[in-house]
Amino acid sequence: MIPKPLQLAHDLVRQTLREGERALDATLGNGHDALFLAKLVGSAGLVIGIDIQQSAIDSSVSKMEENAISWYEFHCCSHELLGEKTSPGLGAVMFNLGYLPGADKSIVTSGRTTILALGAALKQLRPEGIMTVMCYPGHEEGAVEAGAVEEWLSRLERKHWRVFSYKMLNGVNAPPFLVVVQKV
Ligand SMILES: C[S@@+](CC[C@H](N)C(=O)[O-])C[C@H]1O[C@@H](n2cnc3c(N)ncnc32)[C@H](O)[C@@H]1O
Repeated sequence: MIPKPLQLAHDLVRQTLREGERALDATLGNGHDALFLAKLVGSAGLVIGIDIQQSAIDSSVSKMEENAISWYEFHCCSHELLGEKTSPGLGAVMFNLGYLPGADKSIVTSGRTTILALGAALKQLRPEGIMTVMCYPGHEEGAVEAGAVEEWLSRLERKHWRVFSYKMLNGVNAPPFLVVVQKV
């Protein structure tokens, strides 16, 4: 079966991230991706998580506790500040744009800060490390943001970065798509 975009993001991160490494979830939400990353890096590694909403931090802390995971650091701030919360050498960075399902839909990622955050995240990747960006063009602001993300990432220099986009071409209502960047 052809994987859905988020499934492909997980498959690629699984192939790249090694036990004992550090990884970043730049849009923590309910902590699903952070839990996935934490299982991959194991107790010798570290997952850093960032979200602008305290409720997302709280819900993600609960998820870690339920799974007996202690190797995490979560920060409640906007992700363009991620350079202050991380250091270079990350094996993987995940972005899952949009709003927190079941929460206030007005708290949503937006183009300008997302682009700043993507730039900051790329500075922290190790060679061969990857960044995955799930984009949601199905709502108006999401479409503008997704376009800005594609435009900005497509201009990265080929010598230093490999950039791929994975989207369903015959989907209805602008389905979510994935952009993946690997540091050469
Ligand atoms: C689609 S959800 C993320 C889902 C999450 N990865 C998971 O596994 O559950 C998007 C998240 O981005 C957060 N967000 C919105 N703007 C942000 C910003 N400027 N900086 C950091 N997080 C932000 C929202 O609060 C929301 O929790």
